[in-house]
Amino acid sequence: MSVFTPPSRLLFGPGPSQVPERVYQAMAQPIVGHLDPFLFEQFEHIRAALRELFGTKNQFVHALSGTGSAGMEASLSNFVLPGQKLAVFSAGYFSERIIDMGKRHGANVVVLNKPWGETFTEAEATEFLNKEKPAVAAFVHAETSTGALQEPKAITGPAHAVGALTIADCVTSLGALPINVDENGIDIAYSCTQKGLSCPPGMSPVTASPAAIERLRARTAPCPIWYLDYGLLLEYYEGSHRYHHTAPVSSIYALREGLAAIMEEGVNKRFARHQNAHQYFVKRAAKEGLSLLVPEGRRVPNLNTLCVPEGVDDPKTRKRLLTEKGIEIAGGFGPLAGKIFRIGVMGPLATEPNVDLLFDSLLECMK
Ligand SMILES: Cc1ncc(COP(=O)(O)O)c(C=O)c1O
Repeated sequence: MSVFTPPSRLLFGPGPSQVPERVYQAMAQPIVGHLDPFLFEQFEHIRAALRELFGTKNQFVHALSGTGSAGMEASLSNFVLPGQKLAVFSAGYFSERIIDMGKRHGANVVVLNKPWGETFTEAEATEFLNKEKPAVAAFVHAETSTGALQEPKAITGPAHAVGALTIADCVTSLGALPINVDENGIDIAYSCTQKGLSCPPGMSPVTASPAAIERLRARTAPCPIWYLDYGLLLEYYEGSHRYHHTAPVSSIYALREGLAAIMEEGVNKRFARHQNAHQYFVKRAAKEGLSLLVPEGRRVPNLNTLCVPEGVDDPKTRKRLLTEKGIEIAGGFGPLAGKIFRIGVMGPLATEPNVDLLFDSLLECMK
């Protein structure tokens, strides 16, 4: 085998995002066993920081082994019983994944569809939920395939009014913008480590409200996915620390260190830095005559979706950016294939000079 030298990239895509050096250093530290008290101490640091980032006082806050999709699957398999009605608000690729998973778990899935890139108003949610009266309502907070940000209360208010639990996909929002789980009435939320938390992929932060945990305790049949069964996982994380699975120690170190960096910066300062970088991105786009897909007021600040201008070749531009500048951005897919660039401005890259660097390089490669 040849010498292992991964290329150096600037990760301006939707994720994975740029990882600070100290996180890589943490991953290189010697591992301990998965039942070592040192590891459980790290879990507690992680839980405290995640609580702050999620904006919750929930006891149940953990980082699952697995990527964001594991959090999605855990949320559905633990809280939606086969045959129960699951209402999904769908206007992008990741809500479609929720629908697919819900069906695989035997839920009675009902969907309110809108074109990709749109979001839902309280009036639309109320009409749909009053008609369907689901056990659980699910939506994507920050839809990575479109760059649209859903106002959580527009869905959680009407959902609670009909007695439904709410699931929010916060895979792209956690760590970059406020989620305010408690204030927004989100019962179940899941995320990932490779976007707003600036860590490598591999873990899925999750939280669940006391009402959700009560439903979990009332289950008579166990969660059909043994690996993601919160009843069993709680024994490992919070209870006797009994062996459940061999936790990925190096990924836990990385998350611990990534969160330590965020806490040192300050959560509100970090959110403001991302918001500023986003505003600067919007200003620079306007200056260059480029438009964004999502209207102002409902844009995901750390994931900008820039319309590909007439006459510009999307795949060629992205390929040139990667090979000539070492910069990764993503294209659109589904109905947005060839129509948008998806540009993540997050973590260490969320600064004005980095936004300028991105635009200067993009404009050169679009020529
Ligand atoms: C909104 C959203 N949900 C879920 C996922 C799935 O996460 P993962 O790829 O980490 O499994 C992603 C991934 O990009 C996402 O953007």
